[in-house]
Amino acid sequence: MTNPNILVLATGGTIAGKAGSATRHDYRPGQIGIDDYLDQVAGLGLNATLTGKQIANIGSEDIGPEIWAKLHAEISAAIDVPSIDGVIITHGTDTVEETAFLLDLTLPATKPVVLVGAMRPADAVGYDGLRNFANAVRVAGDSEASGRGVLVVMGDRVFAARDVRKARTRGTDAFRGFPRDSIGLVTPSALDWFGAPWRVDEAARFAFTQALPDVPILTVHAGMTPDYVSRLVTGETRGVVVAGVGEGNMPDPVRDALVALAADGMPIVRASRLDEGLVDREPEDDPNRFVAARALNPQKARMLLALLIAEGLTDPSAIQREFDGR
Ligand code: SIN
Repeated sequence: MTNPNILVLATGGTIAGKAGSATRHDYRPGQIGIDDYLDQVAGLGLNATLTGKQIANIGSEDIGPEIWAKLHAEISAAIDVPSIDGVIITHGTDTVEETAFLLDLTLPATKPVVLVGAMRPADAVGYDGLRNFANAVRVAGDSEASGRGVLVVMGDRVFAARDVRKARTRGTDAFRGFPRDSIGLVTPSALDWFGAPWRVDEAARFAFTQALPDVPILTVHAGMTPDYVSRLVTGETRGVVVAGVGEGNMPDPVRDALVALAADGMPIVRASRLDEGLVDREPEDDPNRFVAARALNPQKARMLLALLIAEGLTDPSAIQREFDGR
């Protein structure tokens, strides 16, 4: 696309962070406003017209339903404006996978929506934020991007929201995808997709809601006792995702406590605490009324389960079909 019009929604994070020194390790995310940021970007001479809007300026550990609702409303409005070609969201890297996946599940695949962050603050030596941003502009201005759902651009690579996860605490190559790794390579001057888009013009898969039900994650460890379950689950809890050991396993007494909850109608999803790996159904899942998370990590399984419960789905077989099918 020649000179695409791109809306930039800024939420903060390290891409807008400052340390006050080029070499200091600690820093504060969300220090640079979108207008100042786009002034810096102007110096790059990118082939795009950028319009900025500040949604928040915070670390992404503080992003939740209120900001997701604002982002969803802004992007939905932008999708309806014919003169806007794509949307970029600047975001902290710590929870970018959750925001990306929620938007992926609740937006139509009709215009490019790209999340981007940085691993180093803006005044650090080797700041990666401007390059990642220039790469994101390249992707958001590409007519083939939208048919791949919501995307995350980090470290010269493009990831689909469903696959992407932050895998390292440091370094500019901190992101990985599973089960697919990156689906494209990008630089400020070139974009190579691996394969054809698979969601062209697809409608939103779920209705967005800010009122996401309470779905905590139970991270299993050796020696866990069932009282961890009773301490986690409150009267507000509507479902539980288990970040199990190995392929979604847990000590028998913990399983018994969760089976009792499932028998009372609470959806229980087995995921893995490992960074990569499928959790498939096992024969006991039928009598236990458990759901297998397949390739979704616990934080993404939690997002999908919350949306399904919000839509009124609590039957384990119906929930399993949604985890299998997307
Ligand atoms: C954050 O997620 O806001 C801080 C970390 C980062 O952006 O890399």
